[in-house]
Amino acid sequence: MRHLVSAGDLSRDEALLVLDTAHEMAGLQQREIKKLPTLRGRTVVNLFYEDSTRTRISFEAAAKRLSADVINFSAKGSSVSKGESFKDTALTLQAMGADAVVVRHSASGAAQRLAASGWVGGSVVNAGDGTHEHPTQALLDAYTMRRRLNAGTGDLAGRRVAIVGDVLHSRVARSNVLLLATLGADVTLVAPPTLLPIGVESWPCAVSYDLDAVLPKADVVMLLRVQRERMSEAYFPSAREYTRRYGLDATRAAALQDSAIVMHPGPMNRGVEIAAEVADSERSTIVEQVANGVSVRMAVLYLLLGGAFDTSKEQQR
Ligand code: CP
Repeated sequence: MRHLVSAGDLSRDEALLVLDTAHEMAGLQQREIKKLPTLRGRTVVNLFYEDSTRTRISFEAAAKRLSADVINFSAKGSSVSKGESFKDTALTLQAMGADAVVVRHSASGAAQRLAASGWVGGSVVNAGDGTHEHPTQALLDAYTMRRRLNAGTGDLAGRRVAIVGDVLHSRVARSNVLLLATLGADVTLVAPPTLLPIGVESWPCAVSYDLDAVLPKADVVMLLRVQRERMSEAYFPSAREYTRRYGLDATRAAALQDSAIVMHPGPMNRGVEIAAEVADSERSTIVEQVANGVSVRMAVLYLLLGGAFDTSKEQQR
C-alpha cells in the first residue's frame, strides 16, 4: 500500500499491523526514547485546506519524532487566496520535495484525487476529506478501544460500539464503521433520521434511532460533533431537543455497563452531544485519544514511507 485514503482500504492484517506498530511506538515514547532516526532525510508535508488542531499537530509531532523534516501548509494565508488551484499547490509543494503529503480538504474525494493524480510523487495520507473519511482518526479510535477494553489480546471482535449523532456530516463515522467492521466489531449508528446519510442501509453496521435502548449493551459509546455549520435549520432539531434525545449526560451514562468507555474525536460541543461531567469522567478517553493519535500517526508514516505495507486487501482475498 502506497497511500492511506480510506479505512476500507486496510485489510484486517494491515489494520492490525498499524495498531501493533503504534503500540511499539508508544512503548518507545514511554521509555523516554523520544526520537527515532527512521525517517531522517525524508520530508512530510501537511497540506491543510481546513482548520485542524489535533490532526495537524499530531502528524507534525509524529513526523518529527521519526526525524522527518516537516513542511506545514495552511490554505489560509497562502496563494490559494489568490486563486491558485489544488493541482498547482500540490505541484509547488512536490517541487520542494515531499515524500509524503498529509492532506485535509473540505471536498470529499480530495485525497483520492491527489493520490491518483501524479501531482505528488510520494505517499498521500487522508487527514479528513469533506464528509467522506478520516482513516487515521478511526485507527487511533480502534487503538484506544484496544488499550482500554482489552489489555490482553486487544481483540475487538464482537465488541459493541455505538456511534451517536451527526453521522450525515461525519467523516469519522464512516471511517470507524469500515475499520471496525474489518476488525469484527459490532457497530450501531444511533441518530435522528435526518442526520443519517442516504444509503446507510448498505453500510456494514446496524442503525437505531433510540439511544436509550442501545446504551446498556454498548462497550463503547462514541459521540460525534454536531456540525451545525454544515446544516440548515430545516432538518436539524433545536439544540435542546437534540440534546434531550441524543445527548449523553450523566443520567444516561448511568445506564452504561461499568466497563463501558465514552469517546469523542473532538472538537466537542460540551452541553450538546456530551455533558461536561461525562466528557471529564473516568469513562472518557477523549484526552487519551489525542495522545494515541501521535503513536498511530507515527506508525502510519513509518509503514508507508518504509514500504512495510506489503500485502493489499485484494491480494489477501
Ligand atoms: N478529530 C479531529 O480531526 O480533530 P481536528 O479537526 O482538530 O484535527
